[in-house]
Amino acid sequence: MTSPDAGRSVVVDDIGLLVTNEPALGDGPLGVRRNVALVIVDGDVISIEPAGAIADRRIDAGGRCVIPGFVDSHTHLVFAGDRGDEFAARMAGAPYRAGGIRTTVDATRGASDDELRTLTSARRAEAARAGITTVEIKSGYGLTASHEARCLHVAQDFTAHTTFLGAHVVPAEFEGRTDDYVHHVCTEMLAAAAPHARWIDAFCEVGAFDVDQCRAVLQAGMARGLGGRLHANQLGHGPGVQLAVELGCASADHCTYLDDDDIDALASSDTVATFLPAADFSTRQPYPDARRVLEAGATIAIATNCNPGSSYTTSMAFCIALAVRDMRMTIEEAIQAATLGGAAALRRPDLGRLAPGARADLVLLDAPSYAHLVYRPGVPLVHRTLAGGVVIGGLDHVGH
Ligand code: NIG
Repeated sequence: MTSPDAGRSVVVDDIGLLVTNEPALGDGPLGVRRNVALVIVDGDVISIEPAGAIADRRIDAGGRCVIPGFVDSHTHLVFAGDRGDEFAARMAGAPYRAGGIRTTVDATRGASDDELRTLTSARRAEAARAGITTVEIKSGYGLTASHEARCLHVAQDFTAHTTFLGAHVVPAEFEGRTDDYVHHVCTEMLAAAAPHARWIDAFCEVGAFDVDQCRAVLQAGMARGLGGRLHANQLGHGPGVQLAVELGCASADHCTYLDDDDIDALASSDTVATFLPAADFSTRQPYPDARRVLEAGATIAIATNCNPGSSYTTSMAFCIALAVRDMRMTIEEAIQAATLGGAAALRRPDLGRLAPGARADLVLLDAPSYAHLVYRPGVPLVHRTLAGGVVIGGLDHVGH
């Protein structure tokens, strides 16, 4: 669809505090600027000017803080059904088990294409209201060739970053035949899914798939041109992070249990450590120590992991607050991980920053500073979300 502003300039004017994520452009690690305007042409940032800059169209930021849009590099938005009872049981002491995924597989297989599209659309709109401008969306609740392909087909309506996750869990019809299922994922299912996918993923965990099975799945996907990412070290220590690094995956996701060798491997690679603190919250796992990983020099992302089992939230602000409160990250580090870090995890250098040449994906906060995302936990502070300079989460903050 052509933007209504195609070829015209747009200015987001009267920005009280701008986070550029480019230290050379301003103060501190986030490169902040005060009292400026952002000029946009054809969806890209062209320049940062003093407030009052002239353009064909003006958006008044009203002195608000503006940050880059959140890049949510790990979600499972395409699903049907509800697992609120499972969550309530966990809060009463029951453990989280990978096998709960099968409950959602049953509900998803039973939903029509239209139902899945409507449910996914509502979740994407909710994410936009929460300031998320880019989402990665995984399959993984279909687990047959046709159901995985249709889930990815639905996901393509909402993002270019679709991920084939056939190796999410062994479905009931393959019970006790994991190797047969892996073969199916690598052949028939991959053939059906690959035309709709940018990435390939697998769940490397006790109760899901072992390291050799995950290696086979990722290599099969990579041979078809898909980029690799991996669910690794979520529920215990294991070989997942090392495998992700070995295969040059863009991201190792979860990283809840890391030992020194895992951290060294991440630090000496381009593989991003993607933390999913809302999943640790919702499954009562311990929070990982992000400071150790940062000090080793690895790149970190924070993502919501929105899914019905382990993390049913689209609130990146909640994830940022957890990372600051419980993972030893500064507010600046957490903001950067939810923007620039997510962009690195999706190999998108044009996202996660607000500087000339970058995509004009941004969030106007009903707050004087980005710090309020953590200082005011649980409060909806997103005033407007813009993607490519166009409003996609157009709700003004209630009460203003
Ligand atoms: O990233 N760990 C595997 N997949 C999801 C959980 C899916 C579910 O429980 O339905 C995750 O946490």
